Amino acid sequence: MHNYQNVVWHQATVSKERRHIMNGHGSVNLWFTGLSGSGKSTLAHAVEERLHRMGCRTFVFDGDNVRHGLCADLGFSPEERTENIRRIGEMVKLFLEGGVIALTAFISPLRSDRQRVRELIGPESFLEIYCRCPLSVCEERDVKGLYRRARAGKITNYTGISAPYEEPEYPDLQLDSSAESLEECVCQVILLLEKRGVIQK
Ligand code: ADX
Repeated sequence: MHNYQNVVWHQATVSKERRHIMNGHGSVNLWFTGLSGSGKSTLAHAVEERLHRMGCRTFVFDGDNVRHGLCADLGFSPEERTENIRRIGEMVKLFLEGGVIALTAFISPLRSDRQRVRELIGPESFLEIYCRCPLSVCEERDVKGLYRRARAGKITNYTGISAPYEEPEYPDLQLDSSAESLEECVCQVILLLEKRGVIQK
């Protein structure tokens, strides 16, 4: 049930295509998915840094940050994660209209949630990047000390410990921060953007 029966869409005259021409690049969503501690945010920010230096308009959405604001009312039950990802998808859609390369770093553990975003923004705009890093490595890093707390039973529904992570079946790119350097990973993402025609060499 939607609440927009009496609301009429206002079409912008400045279109996405006009923004692309002005920017000199396309807009796409680089969707980084993987366990907590798998390097999603680090990689997203490093890719953004590179793109920014190349003159591209970018923005990074990060799980921990978004959960301080837009999604501060949400926890980590399956339903709340689904709502978290739905809101991000809607926000990304607007940024893509705005001509921006949107980089998102969310665990997004459920295939169905990621699929919904893919359908919402259009499969050609959704590039799924799987940050594949063994749980043992993420746990060893434990940057925020949350794995330790989850193992001790102080956090419930912790992804990888007491909640599932469903690996992407056909990611556009798969990277492993435990085996490849940050620089190598960044290069692969940039290459992917060139291959898909989002940015020019
Ligand atoms: S998602 O599953 O809904 O996509 P999101 O990426 O927004 O998760 O947030 C994940 C971050 O929240 C983790 O990096 C971690 O710091 C923190 N966090 C707190 N509780 C949990 C939990 N139960 N499971 C996973 N991450 C958690």
